[in-house]
Amino acid sequence: MRQFDFIVLGSGVAGLSFALEASKHGSVAVLSKRALAESNTNYAQGGIASVFSDDDTFDEHVEDTLVAGAGLCRREAVETCVREGPERIRDLIALGAEFTRDEAGYHLTREGGHSKRRIIHARDLTGREVERTLVAAAERARIETFESHAAIDLITTEKLGLPGENRAVGVYVLDAATGEVVRAMGKVIVLATGGAGKAYLYTTNPDVASGDGMAIAHRAGAAVANMEFMQFHPTCLFHPAAKNFLISEALRGEGGILRTRSGEAFMRRYHEKGELAPRDIVARAIDSELKRTGDDCVYLDMSHLPKPFLVEHFPYIDAQCRSFGIDMSVQPIPVVPAAHYTCGGVATDLDGHSTVRNLLAIGEVACTGLHGANRLASNSILEGLVFGHRAAQRAIALARETPEPPAAPEWDAGRAVAPEEGVVVSQNWDEIRRFMWNYVGIVRTDKRLARAWRRIELLREEVREYYWGTLVTPELLELRNLADVAELIIQSARLRHESRGLHYTLDYPKTAETAEDTVLVRGKSAPDAWPRRGSP
Ligand code: SIN
Repeated sequence: MRQFDFIVLGSGVAGLSFALEASKHGSVAVLSKRALAESNTNYAQGGIASVFSDDDTFDEHVEDTLVAGAGLCRREAVETCVREGPERIRDLIALGAEFTRDEAGYHLTREGGHSKRRIIHARDLTGREVERTLVAAAERARIETFESHAAIDLITTEKLGLPGENRAVGVYVLDAATGEVVRAMGKVIVLATGGAGKAYLYTTNPDVASGDGMAIAHRAGAAVANMEFMQFHPTCLFHPAAKNFLISEALRGEGGILRTRSGEAFMRRYHEKGELAPRDIVARAIDSELKRTGDDCVYLDMSHLPKPFLVEHFPYIDAQCRSFGIDMSVQPIPVVPAAHYTCGGVATDLDGHSTVRNLLAIGEVACTGLHGANRLASNSILEGLVFGHRAAQRAIALARETPEPPAAPEWDAGRAVAPEEGVVVSQNWDEIRRFMWNYVGIVRTDKRLARAWRRIELLREEVREYYWGTLVTPELLELRNLADVAELIIQSARLRHESRGLHYTLDYPKTAETAEDTVLVRGKSAPDAWPRRGSP
């Protein structure tokens, strides 16, 4: 058993931003289920949206975020994130981050839903630069990092049978290298585990995005909100040999045109902003064109832009496309929508505090109210920076008033035996991702959701049985979390009887007059578990 002041699960932008700040005030452990840099952050291409130019204002960035969020954003969260953003980006630059510059200062690119150029970026590898900077800073700071350590479940006072308000006091963790389950005890536990894109067959996310934090928090009794709002990125490379390769929205920001196989530029038929309409609209337009034409993909045409410009601004995408035999300066890039970002998550206040005491959630795993029903492009790294910093301030204060964690029993494997049927994991994993794509995708109906519900109930039962009878492995833990998170998504989608932002259903095509959050708490009727603060 190890004890720390702060335990952080996840090592992307939110987790490491938190850890750096908290480490000035106490001991910090960062647990990462794979290598430290293997996070969603590392794969972000586009950039960080923030007000950096003289002709831009906080009010405009707030307004664009609220419009994308389709009436469900929490205004306070949006204001906080937008206004504190520039300072957090400067902190990152002070740590050594290098962003693309031009004669006027930092080069600002444009993405869908933004009324101004405001995306600060490091060519088309922004996430990699952010992650590089933070990992290097974490190495210099007083932070203990544990790679290949996967969280299993939280240890709470409720589970320990202790009286009083339920409080997070630790976590059971699988050390994948030894197969041993260890106890990590802490005064404050922070979930920074990212999203759940792997619940879908097609996703831009890396394999780590199995919704661990959302599932773990829900099992521990925390409120989880707005899980039906899975964002589908309009443009993922469509090529049999390409796994999860994102074609950044910045390409459309710089003039890319979406065309059908026959060459028709179709986006103006769907929205006056054409290719730069909010993401939900572009993804639905593509989905509708694919259904109408029966084609497998649409095309993103960059061939009217000068080759040197493309190579200078998008060197990574250019190289990747070339490796698949596609030269974007002369031929259009085949693309399809894919699951990209989980807008809902563990319900928190503006300091990342969840509804379970001393359990914080930051970044994609959290639902602060910033994204509402649809995230504005490039607001996510910004969110990680701002809320990682704010949560650290809260955690430092919490740690001062929190006693040392109580004793917790060792992990009891019961009668579990070594896994015999690996196929149970791979079969169930594939099944979940396929029916989530087909039944809980870009366009939903009551019937499709009911089908998905029947399947997930059956599958969860099977996974539960297998889980209790088998020694845990990283794959089994991910499957268990993925099944739980798929259930949360389906349940939330079934509760929303309207179309709003990313949740579009043919049975309720209209948007309701009042915007309501979908809040789920294990075993409870939950509408009041996460009361709105501030106006939408
Ligand atoms: C992109 O580069 O298109 C992704 C940016 C984002 O998801 O915010």
